Amino acid sequence: MQTQTLTITRPDDWHLHVRDGAALQAVVPFSARQMGRAVIMPNLKPPVVTIAQALAYRERILAAVPAGSHFEPLMTLYLTDRATPELIRAAKAAGIIACKLYPAGATTNSDSGVSDLWALLPVLETMAEVGLPLLVHGEVTNPDIDIFDREAKFIESVLWPLLQRLPDLKLVFEHITTAEAAQLVAEAGNNVAATITPQHLLYNRNAILVGGIRPHYYCLPVLKRELHREALLQAVSGVHAHKFFLGTDSAPHAQDSKECACGCAGIFSAFAAIELYAEAFEQINALDKLQAFAAENGPKFYGLPQNSDHITLKKCVRKVPTSFNYGDKQLIPLRAEETIAWTMVD
Ligand code: NCD
Ligand code: ZN
Repeated sequence: MQTQTLTITRPDDWHLHVRDGAALQAVVPFSARQMGRAVIMPNLKPPVVTIAQALAYRERILAAVPAGSHFEPLMTLYLTDRATPELIRAAKAAGIIACKLYPAGATTNSDSGVSDLWALLPVLETMAEVGLPLLVHGEVTNPDIDIFDREAKFIESVLWPLLQRLPDLKLVFEHITTAEAAQLVAEAGNNVAATITPQHLLYNRNAILVGGIRPHYYCLPVLKRELHREALLQAVSGVHAHKFFLGTDSAPHAQDSKECACGCAGIFSAFAAIELYAEAFEQINALDKLQAFAAENGPKFYGLPQNSDHITLKKCVRKVPTSFNYGDKQLIPLRAEETIAWTMVD
């Protein structure tokens, strides 16, 4: 029997964490091998809040790209309470691709995030005016709200009111995890889209909790019930599929900061991102929809050309290593020591 192969336009990753320093050196080559471009998250310590910081960070990423790769980092700014309309205009002029909204306290390195979204209205109005997309970590941070309900709560209390106030704002609902989020994106205008991670298409919350506590399946927003996973699979293959695109949210943390009493949120998937997505699409017999999700819908939303080269995947099991070197530490990948059904070939 012949091995099944799949050739698609080279994908892009519209939501990626590459960290800095030795960690950056360790992880950038994985994304550069698979992806044409990636939207780089700005939640460094300290966060990327100025244009100069973003451009300097871009240079550090490019310096870590292996020779022969044309990988292009697309830079974002981290919105704080101190952002101004002038900053937005200058960011647009400098080629910044988007601004990231972290509600203060929502996730890893979000302490400097936005504490009052409505106080930022002039900034958001300017983003709508100049066409700079807002990338939203869509979870409320109220301690009274159950962690599994934080995304759904954000939709009713923040997202719909925001879209009503700014109907033209280009907005990406990041790493969506619920049926409610998929529904919002389907119902909203074409200025609203969403990224979906491989883990939220492949796993439900049992992966974190059944048979022992598994920190390498813990990310934010946290994995949800199976019915939500099914809704996300429906979203990427259904009538509104053009509004959803690839964003791994690959978020590396050293082994010792995941495997401890208060482990960090974040899953490292960049080493096999496209193969993991292929597995998810194959589960629902929708491999023919993978190319649009991975390589077409994102560029269309951002008004960018699609990549002109291609990648090829083989239906051939690959074994996932125990760990990768991560500076002087180790990085445990998603599915460590297990297998993935597809392998990208060079
Ligand atoms: C991300 C990180 O580690 O930077 N963690 C995560 O669980 N996704 C932050 C984020 O995107 O929320
Ligand atoms: Zn993220």
